[in-house]
Amino acid sequence: MPATPTNTDPVTVEQILTEGQLLFETSDLYFGHGTDNAWDEAVFLVFYALDLPPDADRSVLNQQLTDIQCKAIHQLFEQRIRDRIPAAYLTGRAWFCGLPFAVDKRVIIPRSPIAELIMSGFHPWCSTEPQRLLDLCTGSGCIGIACAYAFENAEVVLSDICADALQVAQQNIQQHDLAARVSAVQSDLFENLADQKFDLIVSNPPYVDADDYASMPDEYFHEPELALASGNDGLDFTRRLLREAHDYLTEHGVLIVEVGNSGEALDRLFPSVPFLWLEFSEGDGGVFLLTRDQLLEHRESFE
Ligand SMILES: C[S@@+](CC[C@H](N)C(=O)[O-])C[C@H]1O[C@@H](n2cnc3c(N)ncnc32)[C@H](O)[C@@H]1O
Repeated sequence: MPATPTNTDPVTVEQILTEGQLLFETSDLYFGHGTDNAWDEAVFLVFYALDLPPDADRSVLNQQLTDIQCKAIHQLFEQRIRDRIPAAYLTGRAWFCGLPFAVDKRVIIPRSPIAELIMSGFHPWCSTEPQRLLDLCTGSGCIGIACAYAFENAEVVLSDICADALQVAQQNIQQHDLAARVSAVQSDLFENLADQKFDLIVSNPPYVDADDYASMPDEYFHEPELALASGNDGLDFTRRLLREAHDYLTEHGVLIVEVGNSGEALDRLFPSVPFLWLEFSEGDGGVFLLTRDQLLEHRESFE
């Protein structure tokens, strides 16, 4: 039987992880901003505090902590529990497509299912590698920057209406050393992208409807409302996007948009439009695809 630790025994990484897990499990927290369970959430915070890589060897579990390290970790646990601050805001860092991104309260925490499409190079939806790609509503820049890794020769534009968010996106462009082919533009939808054409437009826009927004767990209220809420049915932004996107796509261009739970409302709103709902390994992702031809064919529905 393992010896019960006394007050004077040094605490190990494994012990503090278990403590965090138990605390989180019994504190009615919401997980969904980068992790989906109490153990992973504890690992995220403890590894950050100890400056351990996410793929650290299991042997770190036996590492003994100093009092200063324990204190720093307990402070993080307390902030996570007391203030319901998502872990990624406490660490200033999030992971998307296996890549690290700087994040803070100016942008939402990356979690889009579009990551899975990027990792597969949008197969089979892009028959040829896109040359020009737009990440519309870019926030931290995670989608566009991950696309730049997936398509090594593509020019990528990141756009967002929010100047504060774009500062974070710029930071990430620099961090990933991609300034030569990734740029950031402040724009309300396509307003400042006149005359530009893209082979692929990818967007994770605001799409939460008013009822869902009112009942969201506390963690979401640390994220910018502009990034989440989009009118009564959650589709204010997407309606505008569908009206205008065809003008910004090349001949064989493709539009891919995440609308989450608002997908059903979108199908009801435009019953004749053949939205292709993409499949994901973990179930429904609320992401649709339309080609430029389809957007043109149905443009009257969108007016
Ligand atoms: C759901 S967040 C997505 C951020 C990022 N793409 C991601 O997946 O983490 C939506 C973003 O859309 C931006 N946004 C809201 N309204 C916009 C508009 N009219 N034009 C452009 N961007 C907009 C917000 O500032 C926010 O950064």
